[in-house]
Amino acid sequence: MKATARAPANIALIKYWGKQNEELRLPLNSSISINLSNCHTITTVKFSPKYKQELVEIRDYSSSERSESRSHWTSSGLSSRQARTVIHVNFKEERRVVGHLERIRKLAKIHLKAKVVSKNSFPSSAGIAASASGFAALTLAATKAAGLSLSEKELSILARLGSGSACRSIPNGFVEWQQAKTSQESYAYSLCPPDYWDLRDIIAIVQKQEKKISSTKGMEKVFTSPFLKARLKEMKNKIEKIKKALKEKDFRLLGEVTEEEAINIHCVMMTQKPPLFYWSELTIKIIKAVCQWREKGLPIYFTIDAGSNVHLICQAKDEKEVVKKLKKINGVLDVIINKPAQGARLINEHLF
Ligand code: PMV
Repeated sequence: MKATARAPANIALIKYWGKQNEELRLPLNSSISINLSNCHTITTVKFSPKYKQELVEIRDYSSSERSESRSHWTSSGLSSRQARTVIHVNFKEERRVVGHLERIRKLAKIHLKAKVVSKNSFPSSAGIAASASGFAALTLAATKAAGLSLSEKELSILARLGSGSACRSIPNGFVEWQQAKTSQESYAYSLCPPDYWDLRDIIAIVQKQEKKISSTKGMEKVFTSPFLKARLKEMKNKIEKIKKALKEKDFRLLGEVTEEEAINIHCVMMTQKPPLFYWSELTIKIIKAVCQWREKGLPIYFTIDAGSNVHLICQAKDEKEVVKKLKKINGVLDVIINKPAQGARLINEHLF
């Protein structure tokens, strides 16, 4: 009754911000994302009668893993002494994990307690949300360990109940999460496999502290923004444009819509009550640099999640140039290079 899964984080080109049903995590709009090859979570789950209570460990990535599997992680911001393995779990994280195990026990009709060990390929302090990869890996590992064998659709629905964006980390490559009125209809599916289009998501890490307001908390106030109505009105149109860009491999269209969407969602955040400002001065500096580089002929676009780190979307041919330029910006702590990746998978290397 032990299983291990590996799941990628994802970056949304069309983003999810706000729910029509809080408990079921049903989104206000559909979203489209790309799974990330260099940011993932590995999770091992075991259900056993020998556990008298739930045991949850969330390990930070270790320095040895950085040199082995994270060749793209530059060491400018984090010395190997700082990057040791840390075992930590805060109360809120643990409660969410245990809540998810409860759902899975109910489905599997078992009553055993579980041990869960989880590890990210990126430092959680890097400010990259680990909830998508974390809940996707937990869903796959825990259902398997509980004796269930679920379809991709069922896994995506279940992952969504743990963390909305996690449902997009189950299928492969370029993914759409369908907005719907019922739980059974709101799940994610693959639009194209990872090798369909050789794009890059190059993350400029500008801040290493965890954000003060989580996305779950932040989006609860979305209805207080007078701009929400305008945002939702344009959504269908934007989704169609991104799908067209994917179909025709039209990078310019993909980039323009992605950037427009990032600015739009942050305007909604900033006009909520109370206002949410996720950007830092460095975020704006990088945004302006991207616009300048583009004016000079480098095809590159940005997007930003609920945080201050900037994701630069470019084509494989421009990867080196973008990294070189980013490293010259004072204050950029690290750079993570991602390709489109496959979704959640079971693996044989258990963490305990
Ligand atoms: O599912 P959550 O709570 O990780 O929310 C994700 C929110 C954004 O990252 C801002 C947008 C998205 O669609 O990923």
